[in-house]
Amino acid sequence: MNNRLKQTIEEASKIFILTDENVAPFWLPETEYWFDCENAVEITIRPGEKYKNLQSVQRIWKTLMKHHADRNALLINLGGGVITDLGGFAASTYKRGIRFINIPTTLLAMVDAAIGGKTGIDFGGGKNQIGTFAEAEDVLIHQDYLMTLPQRELLSGMAEMLKYGFIADAKLLEINLVNYEQFIFRCGDIKRKIVAKDPTEKGLRKILNFGHTMGHAIESHCLTTETPLLHGEAMALGMGAALWLSERKLGLDADVLQRFESQIKMLLSEVEVSLSGADVEPILQYLVHDKKNKNNKPQFVLLEAVGKPIWDVEVEPDSVMQALNFIIGVVK
Ligand SMILES: NC(=O)c1ccc[n+]([C@@H]2O[C@H](COP(=O)([O-])OP(=O)(O)OC[C@H]3O[C@@H](n4cnc5c(N)ncnc54)[C@H](O)[C@@H]3O)[C@@H](O)[C@H]2O)c1
Repeated sequence: MNNRLKQTIEEASKIFILTDENVAPFWLPETEYWFDCENAVEITIRPGEKYKNLQSVQRIWKTLMKHHADRNALLINLGGGVITDLGGFAASTYKRGIRFINIPTTLLAMVDAAIGGKTGIDFGGGKNQIGTFAEAEDVLIHQDYLMTLPQRELLSGMAEMLKYGFIADAKLLEINLVNYEQFIFRCGDIKRKIVAKDPTEKGLRKILNFGHTMGHAIESHCLTTETPLLHGEAMALGMGAALWLSERKLGLDADVLQRFESQIKMLLSEVEVSLSGADVEPILQYLVHDKKNKNNKPQFVLLEAVGKPIWDVEVEPDSVMQALNFIIGVVK
């Protein structure tokens, strides 16, 4: 434990640990022991995106109140991106904000969700509709947590790692199941540097949304079906669509997409994707209502080349539909 963290824990008037039912049996006692906070109040919620909602936030707020948490209380978020998003939001709004620490236990949260200060919950049928910008006091990356992570979740995190490859560092496009661990910190560094330059996403930070315009629409649609996709899986499809558009609109080298096509199959190898032509229209509806749209038009992050992203690219509806059909064809 570093000195800053030690001090944060010592200074807290009361410590709360938020986690979910999958993580708790593996890691809650160990984590409390490592961080010397066995007296912490535990808040364990059911796992999954379905519970990144207002009911869970209310449960956290009520527990904080019940235990008389004051402005010097500390919330430790131990889990994947659902827990860090949810806990960060609950902490940043309780009594106008208490401190929180993120301990990410999924690869996706280690390289992305736990870093950068975006918190939030899903609301009204849309993802991350309500949220705040609030920085965690500390983000502790400990790769041991990945030992218990299911393979499908690991692949979902690798998709986000590839995102950093496309937008910032071609070396990251070489990651695979054998070497990924050595690149975890590199991904976090890329994100931190981008966020430091543009914390509230006025410009540059938008490049972190590479693949997300289409990816979020696919993810939101699939959440309403029998076969929901994980966040990283949907982003992999979204990145495929963005590469397809980049090739046509910005002249991206065709090799980039060609190589990624086999990676998409690897990233989605643990899931039965059941997307077909019938899903195109509902996915496009989500795209039209994306909160990041300008003048009701979806904005894409596209690539001129690997490491050269351009944000706020407007794409005509026809091309959007073709890109979606292309990506559905890849995973059929
Ligand atoms: N705030 C941001 O900047 C940001 C960025 C990217 C993604 N996100 C959000 O992150 C969320 C997705 O995060 P995620 O993929 O980590 O999902 P998640 O939090 O749902 O975790 C995935 C699954 O793995 C289980 N799990 C977690 N750690 C485990 C471990 N060590 N061992 C065994 N099981 C474990 C969880 O219980 C869950 O079932 C989405 O809600 C997304 O919107 C936020």
